[in-house]
Amino acid sequence: MKNIKWPFVMVALSVFSTMLIIIETTDAEEMKTQKSSYSPVMITESFAAVRERDIAEKPEVINKHIALLKERYDLSGKTDPNTKMSGGKPVPAGPTAKLKSGMTWERLGAMSPAEIKQEGVFPYLPLPHVKHATGGMVVSPMQLKTHPELVRFDVEFDLPEAYLPEFPPPLFLINRPDLGDVSGGEEITINNYYEKMNGILTPFQLEGMRLLVTPVAQQQFNVTEDRKAEKAQLAVSCFTCHTNGHSSGVFHLNPDTRPQEARFRIDTPTLRGVNIQHFFGSKRALRSLMDFSEVESKTAYFDGDQVVAIKKGARQFTRADIAAMATMQNMFAFPPAPKLNVRGRLDPAKATESELRGENVFTMACASCHPAPYYTDNLAHDLQVERFYDGRAEGLIKTFALRGVKDSPPYLHDGRCLTLEDTVEFFNLIHELKLTASQKKDLVAFLKTL
Ligand code: HEC
Ligand code: HEC
Repeated sequence: MKNIKWPFVMVALSVFSTMLIIIETTDAEEMKTQKSSYSPVMITESFAAVRERDIAEKPEVINKHIALLKERYDLSGKTDPNTKMSGGKPVPAGPTAKLKSGMTWERLGAMSPAEIKQEGVFPYLPLPHVKHATGGMVVSPMQLKTHPELVRFDVEFDLPEAYLPEFPPPLFLINRPDLGDVSGGEEITINNYYEKMNGILTPFQLEGMRLLVTPVAQQQFNVTEDRKAEKAQLAVSCFTCHTNGHSSGVFHLNPDTRPQEARFRIDTPTLRGVNIQHFFGSKRALRSLMDFSEVESKTAYFDGDQVVAIKKGARQFTRADIAAMATMQNMFAFPPAPKLNVRGRLDPAKATESELRGENVFTMACASCHPAPYYTDNLAHDLQVERFYDGRAEGLIKTFALRGVKDSPPYLHDGRCLTLEDTVEFFNLIHELKLTASQKKDLVAFLKTL
């Protein structure tokens, strides 16, 4: 006791307590503004308590969101009787975006971006998630019929089925175009992939396919207390969202932005034709399919949070695993486009007058970013959409390939354009093209031939 230096102890104690106060207030501040990049790891409420609150809040959450959609869109589900997706589902018809009262598409097209912004009449505002504060994957109703385990108790899918890809979609292989659709009209899962693909794929491709259809834990569907499904489960495979190598319309929030409210809704893109693409992700621009496949197991699965990924049981892939997955994805072909020639341009002997006129408009107005044969420049562009509305800039987005585009509603990274007619109206405004009504019709006719 004689050796204790009391003044030193007193100073040390007061420094320590000041530190505690600082740590405490920092924590409290962070909780208040929710500015942390990380999801909480320590769950302080029971599953039952969270579930009960989520269920109680659900009707209000859904009603508010549906009211917003109805204000923005005509959701009557009209389709084009003459154009089918590759598997036979009718292509939805638009434009679905509602204009402010008294406004017409012609008048809107004649206004400058600044005028449109000032009057608050831009019809294509960013689409929010049904429950943006929670986010996470939401599965389409047609998928829930065969996968009731993927029902979330806190949210529901928002867009009508007419504006989604067909389920299940056909699967075309670049190495066996002679076979056409190899899915047999069924969803390829862990239970049937071997029987369907053995004898068509190489052993290494089959191994890639096995990994793509193997269900594992995911942020909302797992075994922990903060899951959003009734039952603890390991239920999500790459093909849950990229069904048959295409898309089932599952949406979630992009994993590459924080805080939560700044994240974008993202619609699952198709994996058809990834072999011709130079980078992956609408914003992230990973250069190889192998890298993206590995990253997806932390992003699509755990919101890009590797801490939670470890807790909830993320898959750890070997380099050989991701090479097999990438090899398989590289086999997913664009659907047939019988009116295109070997250069990816319309064959005049097969195309209609309207489609040919549409190709001309497209060549003038769109082809600089969407050149044939696959209709992508493999770059990202900043369309500066914020010129048209009060809100945050979206920045660079990848130019999606337009080959097979009629199979992939809804359009744009967040799905805010429900039909091809809407994309034409959108780009007419973005590029201030002042297209006539008949030019727009021809352009849509052309897009449907791709
Ligand atoms: C929860 C749904 C979901 C799951 C599960 C999922 N993905 Fe994705 N995938 C998406 C979304 C959404 C995007 C768009 C991401 C973006 O815009 O950055 C995407 C993008 C991709 C892309 C890039 C496509 C492009 O055109 O740039 C590839 C490749 C891909 N996913 C592969 C996979 C693989 C492999 C798996 C399984 C390990 C997987 N995905 C699991 C939803 C999912
Ligand atoms: C400056 C380059 C550029 C030009 C010019 C351009 N686009 Fe695009 N296009 C893009 C980008 C970037 C995206 C992705 C935007 C997003 O997701 O927010 C896109 C997306 C699309 C999509 C949606 C694809 C999908 O799968 O979701 C369609 C359809 C489309 N463009 C059609 C057109 C048409 C028609 C024109 C001409 C009237 C046109 N584009 C002109 C860059 C361009």
